[in-house]
Amino acid sequence: MAVRFNRARKKGEIMEVKTFGVIGAGQMGSGIAQVAAASGLAVIINDIKQEFVDRGLAGITRNLQRTMDKGKLAAEEKNRILARIKTSTDLSDMAAADFVVEAASENEAIKFKLFQTLDEVCAAHVILASNTSSIPIGRIAANTRRPDKVIGMHFMNPVPVMKLVEVICGLATSPETLETTLELARRMDKTPARANDYPGFIANRILLPMINEAVFCLYHGVGTREDIDTVMKLGMNHPMGPLALADLIGLDTCLAIMNTLYQGLGDPKYRPCPLLRQYVEAGWLGRKTGKGFYTYE
Ligand code: CAA
Repeated sequence: MAVRFNRARKKGEIMEVKTFGVIGAGQMGSGIAQVAAASGLAVIINDIKQEFVDRGLAGITRNLQRTMDKGKLAAEEKNRILARIKTSTDLSDMAAADFVVEAASENEAIKFKLFQTLDEVCAAHVILASNTSSIPIGRIAANTRRPDKVIGMHFMNPVPVMKLVEVICGLATSPETLETTLELARRMDKTPARANDYPGFIANRILLPMINEAVFCLYHGVGTREDIDTVMKLGMNHPMGPLALADLIGLDTCLAIMNTLYQGLGDPKYRPCPLLRQYVEAGWLGRKTGKGFYTYE
């Protein structure tokens, strides 16, 4: 059955955002914090342990240093960007933020708990966004008393490089929340694209079945990992092959997204490849663990 979607929405007022909270200092959270600080926002980056926050901040510093070494960023600007970032291991610090984006693991229980806490900690006007790659925004919003102020703000990896931010409205998301989020994405030098609230939204509804099919090709022996990636790189002009991209995204995240598509859409065409499951069970999660479809130093 065809579903009519892009409902006409009233245009909303744009809320002023000065302090931007980021939950999670992993590769996505630290990338988001970097582009937010570079856009002039005061940033608070939070994770459960100081060592995680420190690692995230070290990554941001390395990235900025690399950009500086290439002559694309002045030393003073690098220092100004870093000075805008405060770190935190206590969620109650988010009381100072007027927009929070959550970039924790792609795990419903973790996200639901975080949104319950953020809803208690943050002032009533604060928008709570999730960088979820596939969990329906309505399900996340149901954990708060402000579903009108809950929205998906889905950045792509690596965040400092990729221009897209997928912005996802749940059923209850208000026009003000949408406009403020679109404006923030533009301020961070990103191009927003709107998606409606179905599992995987647009990006991962299309990308992950392709990656999963590449894993099936490997599983069925249709080709080696190198040949599968070469076909997609040179044959389709993709910047990297699907197996290398899976390693970049994280195989646990890929599996979580396939499970969300499979359960949420109830169609067997979204079943995760058994080989993907095996890799995740073995702890071979891609670049972040040094081994996935490829091995990394
Ligand atoms: N952080 C910051 N900058 C980075 C970076 C990182 N992790 N990785 C690369 N860059 C920068 C480099 O410094 C370089 O910058 P300059 O142009 O200023 O010199 C630029 O990106 C190009 O990098 P390289 O020359 O090293 O390598 P490349 O040309 O092969 O590009 C790539 C690397 C940008 C990762 C490219 O291969 C690419 O676009 N790959 C596809 C990425 C993709 O599809 N991302 C989406 C994943 S899906 C997702 O994120 C959503 C989800 O929910 C799963």
